[in-house]
Amino acid sequence: MAVRRLAPAEKQPKEFAFTAENLDWAKGQIAKYPEGRQASAVIPLLWRAQEQAGGWVPQKAIEHVADVLSMPYIRVLEVATFYTMFNLEPVGKHHVQLCGTTPCVLRGADALKKVCHDKIGHEHHVSPDGTFSWVEVECLGACVNAPMAQINYDYYEDLTPENFAKLLDDLAAGRPVKTGPQIDRQFSAPVGGPITLTGHVGDGRPDVGAPAPTQEPALADADAKRPGEAANVREEGVPKPPVGVGARGRRTTRRE
Ligand code: FES
Repeated sequence: MAVRRLAPAEKQPKEFAFTAENLDWAKGQIAKYPEGRQASAVIPLLWRAQEQAGGWVPQKAIEHVADVLSMPYIRVLEVATFYTMFNLEPVGKHHVQLCGTTPCVLRGADALKKVCHDKIGHEHHVSPDGTFSWVEVECLGACVNAPMAQINYDYYEDLTPENFAKLLDDLAAGRPVKTGPQIDRQFSAPVGGPITLTGHVGDGRPDVGAPAPTQEPALADADAKRPGEAANVREEGVPKPPVGVGARGRRTTRRE
């Protein structure tokens, strides 16, 4: 992990303040915490500041968040420099966070790094046309589909140098791209489809390997969040309860 410092002075804007809309939103976040504990809202406020500033946190944004929360500047600076989700330098329109932790490396992340070098340039730099920037990050929690990268708000998994290069080309050209696994894989199930829990629980048949005429994915990507949007702006989640066949032969949910 590289030392995380603020961007040099020449890249820093002279001022930053929340828009009226964001300030209202920030006040709503702060109101969630008991009197005297407003500093607990520092992470959501920094995140909103990052979004307003175009994907990174300038020094003036750190100071503004500190002022809004009545915190010493150094305390907010500590948070912003600790969490790698906060970018301390300007980023490209598509900011690539490439996982470089062991499982992804064992599955080919080093070759993906070369793709970043070839197509984007040096790490921590925005490409000349402003389209891309990239950094290597620690595990993003999708090791089962390694190697992977996060680009803006979306994960792209099961990457190869070929499909990763094409993905970057498509993003640059504004073509639609597929988020999640880039191969024939449903979420994190085995390649080719689920091989366990494919039957109905409770109808007397063994679960493993049983036919599953009514099986559907419990949650589709579109239900979880829309590509290109942050997870916190999705519509209200509507979890689908698992469906099975009850003892009296009727379809039931787990609650019944
Ligand atoms: S090691 Fe890459 S996502 Fe976990």
